[in-house]
Amino acid sequence: MQNFTFHNPVKILFGQGQIRALATEIPPAARILLTYGGGSIRSNGVYDQIQQALKGRVLFEFGGIEPNPTLETLNRAVALARAEGIDFLLAVGGGSVLDGTKFIAAAIPFAGDSWQIVASHAPVTQAIPMGTVLTLPATGSEMNGTAVITRGATREKLYFSSPLVMPRFSILDPETTFSLSERQVGNGVADAFTHVVEQYLTYPVNAPLQDRMAEAILLTLIEEGPKTLAQPEDYDARANLMWCATLALNGLIGAGVPQDWTTHAIGHELTALHGIDHGRTLAIVLPAVLQHQRKRKRAKLLQYAERIWGLRAGDEESRIDGAIEKTRAFFESVGVPTRLADYSVSAETIPVVVERLAGRGPVALGEHQDIDAAAVGRILALSL
Ligand code: NZQ
Ligand code: ZN
Repeated sequence: MQNFTFHNPVKILFGQGQIRALATEIPPAARILLTYGGGSIRSNGVYDQIQQALKGRVLFEFGGIEPNPTLETLNRAVALARAEGIDFLLAVGGGSVLDGTKFIAAAIPFAGDSWQIVASHAPVTQAIPMGTVLTLPATGSEMNGTAVITRGATREKLYFSSPLVMPRFSILDPETTFSLSERQVGNGVADAFTHVVEQYLTYPVNAPLQDRMAEAILLTLIEEGPKTLAQPEDYDARANLMWCATLALNGLIGAGVPQDWTTHAIGHELTALHGIDHGRTLAIVLPAVLQHQRKRKRAKLLQYAERIWGLRAGDEESRIDGAIEKTRAFFESVGVPTRLADYSVSAETIPVVVERLAGRGPVALGEHQDIDAAAVGRILALSL
């Protein structure tokens, strides 16, 4: 096992009715800014529950944070927060609202051009405290210190991380997810599944506990994802899915093991260029990454084939083929198409993605840093 430091201070309040706990989780004298997205929280009753829990409190609001939150929108929230002396942020929504709010938290006390927090990882030395109410299980943003922000003007989608933007608490009430569309449920399953694979499917380092925790999440997603789609009112399926997505990216399964974030790096470019939903970009890219890297990932691919997909018979190459095919079929089974062509994206995008990645410095992705710009092109060609 590799050395690691693991510190995750996010308090999780999980289950029905937990939104009421806002009354005690947010300091009584706080000047609160409630941040949210395009309005789903108004139509599904979450907004009313929050107003009820925070009755009598100093509460401002900023709505309209879009999917793949933009610097341009978030800067308006920063200006509002500064003008009103906000000292606590409450993000209510999916990964985009949570990520956007992490940026707002870091940008409020930041002197200078706040895009540098993202573009050049300018050190975050202070952040306004924040809490979240998560309504879409997918990103793990509710229990990590990462945010992915888009600059609309240049269509750049980049991330920053800081322990200072980890939420003080996150409320996860599975009932808030009943109103999700099938498409968003499928996207969330694909996102969480890929997060696990990217921390698991590299090379063995004799970390059987991390392996089995990762496999437990994958197997649970394979059971609970389709169940959620088939029975949208099944509270237990919703709850299991939600907890899977949180544990998929809260640092636990990735501690002490190699990681490969190639799929995310390429996927972000597809979102930035073509507006494809985050989870969908991963379903396009992941099978192609596994195919391209099958030699270097051989031992873990065989383990994955056996323990996740029950593939024990036949020679090793055919088991690996089978595992990649099953991965693709699983994404399709939760309603997430896996080919660029399914999104009307042609081969013309390949050199554009390659150039964008190469334009930011040497491309050296993967657990061995052996995926260069040319390899990114070959991976995308396998996704057509
Ligand atoms: O904006 P509203 O009206 O709230 O609608 C949203 C949005 O249109 C809707 N939605 C959310 N909860 C709902 C709901 N609709 C009905 N009922 C509910 N309960 O769903 C749509 C998509 O929301 P969004 O937040 O964009 O989705 P998701 O949670 O998948 O977040 C995606 C963003 O997170 C980033 C992605 O890059 C992308 O920008 N990621 C963040 C990560 C992190 N912080 O660690 C890691 C991930 O890999 C990912 O990159
Ligand atoms: Zn993701």
